[in-house]
Amino acid sequence: MPTVRDIRAMAGEETITMLTAYDAPTAAVADEAGIDILLIGDSVGNTALGYDSTLPVTVDEIASRTGAVARATDDALVVADMPFLSFGVDDAESIENCGRMLKEADADAVKLESGPHTVELTERLAQLGIPVMAHLGLTPQQVKSVGYARQGTTPDAAEEILELAHAHEDAGAFSLVLEHVPANLAARVTEELEIPTIGIGAGSDCDGQVLVVDDVLGMSDYTPPFATQFGDVRSEMESAISSYREAVENGEFPAEEHSHVEEDLDSLY
Ligand code: KIV
Ligand code: NA
Repeated sequence: MPTVRDIRAMAGEETITMLTAYDAPTAAVADEAGIDILLIGDSVGNTALGYDSTLPVTVDEIASRTGAVARATDDALVVADMPFLSFGVDDAESIENCGRMLKEADADAVKLESGPHTVELTERLAQLGIPVMAHLGLTPQQVKSVGYARQGTTPDAAEEILELAHAHEDAGAFSLVLEHVPANLAARVTEELEIPTIGIGAGSDCDGQVLVVDDVLGMSDYTPPFATQFGDVRSEMESAISSYREAVENGEFPAEEHSHVEEDLDSLY
């Protein structure tokens, strides 16, 4: 079982691979495939739960899915993504919500979409023994105020991200996700920080990369421009499900070998 300290130590040494997972079978496959970190992303809102943003996702939903992932995972670090308004409103409530992920769902760490409002909270959580992965750049929980645009594109905005990255490292975050920021900014943050950076749409100079598993598998009908489909699982599913429907409709399934006849009943029927 890797710990957050093992992940920290990978910075600059080994490339970190991270992938989202929302259920036990997917987690088991990703874990066996050697992924270092499994994130129960609040992207579960856009994927499995069918919402058009991450905002409606609840603490209970993340806790339930984190439990499923943790039960199926032997090697990867399991990180629970804290949903919109589950942190940052009130300290006690934030700590309780984050703590549930470790106490109830067996997560190894939590991820917080970060900003000036999460520096002190990150420090408090780290002191309490709840490891925090920070997340800067595009933070989809800000969709109503900021949208989904690339972040850190002006010198001032880039400087702000760099400063917040340092502030979260100093507060005790063990790693940092950088989403949808210019590659040269991500490279600069990676060079300046000691903790590992994990990029998504942030170029190739981060210490690691993360993608949403539905995008990797080719499950989604939309793939963001910074993702690549590494498979075509949606077509496989369509083909399997259509074959099942056809086999039932034309009487090929169930066949004799799928049925069980009890001879004692022959006198009755
Ligand atoms: O929710 C999510 O999947 C994420 C990753 C893309 C970093 O936050
Ligand atoms: Na997220």
